[in-house]
Amino acid sequence: MDKIVIHGGERLQGEVRINGAKNAVLLIQCAALLGEGKTTLRHVPRLSDVRTMGKLLERLGCQVGGDRTLSIDPEGVARGGLEAPYDLVKTMRASVTVMGPLLARYGRARVSLPGGCAIGARPIDQHLKGFAALGAEIELSHGYVELRARRLHGASVVFDTVTVGGTQNVMMGAVLARGTSRLENVAREPEVQELARFLNKMGARISGAGTPVIEIEGVDSLGGIDHAVVPDRIEAGTMAVAAAITRGDVLLRDAPVDDMHAVIAKLQEAGVSCDVTSDGLHVRGPEQLRPIDVTTRPYPGFPTDMQAQLMVLATQAHGQSLLTETIFENRFMHVPELGRMGADIHVNGNSAAVRGSTPLSGAIVMATDLRASASLVLAGLVADGPTEVRRVYHLDRGYEAIEKRLRGLGARIERFHGAPG
Ligand code: EPZ
Repeated sequence: MDKIVIHGGERLQGEVRINGAKNAVLLIQCAALLGEGKTTLRHVPRLSDVRTMGKLLERLGCQVGGDRTLSIDPEGVARGGLEAPYDLVKTMRASVTVMGPLLARYGRARVSLPGGCAIGARPIDQHLKGFAALGAEIELSHGYVELRARRLHGASVVFDTVTVGGTQNVMMGAVLARGTSRLENVAREPEVQELARFLNKMGARISGAGTPVIEIEGVDSLGGIDHAVVPDRIEAGTMAVAAAITRGDVLLRDAPVDDMHAVIAKLQEAGVSCDVTSDGLHVRGPEQLRPIDVTTRPYPGFPTDMQAQLMVLATQAHGQSLLTETIFENRFMHVPELGRMGADIHVNGNSAAVRGSTPLSGAIVMATDLRASASLVLAGLVADGPTEVRRVYHLDRGYEAIEKRLRGLGARIERFHGAPG
């Protein structure tokens, strides 16, 4: 397993181009199953999750080629098993979002139940509620869910919980249904809006994405398309925190600033200057950071995927900050590792009180999940002495060559391959 070693204390300066959005491209890869023809995706980030999704599509019978420019031809799927097996779903739960496309286009899907992960139970009850409303017969057995439908029909679905994946999965199920569907209490994330744009380019008729109600008029078929993936708002937010805590001066080229209002507002509250330019977002860290209080919420609220990163900023702010996590039940796995570096954080239920500013000292720390591992790298940037982040495969799921990109901004950071895990 690889490890990353950081020697803290460098101010980050320069510019970094933001990569394509992981949480947009994974869903668009699934949506390509709906097209009667090849789809080509551009600006695709080189991430292990994207490769895992590519393997799943190949297992389903697709021809998949390329990486930065990715081609997906679902021609062979009809003759395949229409099954997403346990070994792939357990490594990446986003695999469950092949259900909607397979059910909509081929009338059947057999998908391993994802089970939980480090940050929570991650149920899919709302996904199944939506498919049942669209007319699918659903059977749960031996750790798999089997869905069948001769042809789905339009329906009204009111989600009990705002779920990004549930909204996306059911939206993909409804695009080929007979009749019109109305989805309420849906997720409004930019990635939901991007998926709707992608599907409409394929020939779907979706309106309302980004609002609490999505209307979908079913069509008979969709075509393959050529599409450029939008930049990643969470990678951009992560790099913005790196600049903020190192008193840096960094241009985040192509940052999707229109999707980052909550993050930018919180950084500005902490005293970070964030200037929107025609090239992206120009971030400059202050001499002294101010404490912040934040509660994670569905979009357009503050994103849960930025909570761990903001906690590192809170350790360097002068005063007491309070971070409350409302989306996942176990998303403070970074706290004990940051504590080993000297952070003063007290967790009480779903809130973490952070006292700053505390000087952090380098240590050997263990990555546990994607965003927690990003926070450990950020902490290493300001820690005294070397920080060794182990099990960085977690990091590689969502950040492409993060050590090269931070080094390009002046960080003293290096990856060691095959280190003890
Ligand atoms: C997506 O996960 C993202 N992943 C996550 O990013 C992100 O944290 C999350 O949305 C919230 O924004 C991808 O897009 C691939 P949810 P998803 O369904 O769709 C509960 C990252 O770091 N729920 O919106 O799985 C669920 O347990 C990853 O990039 C149900 O109860 O998230 C959770 O508490 C991590 N029943 C809450 O809803 C359901 O049927 C939000 O989950 C579905 C979800």
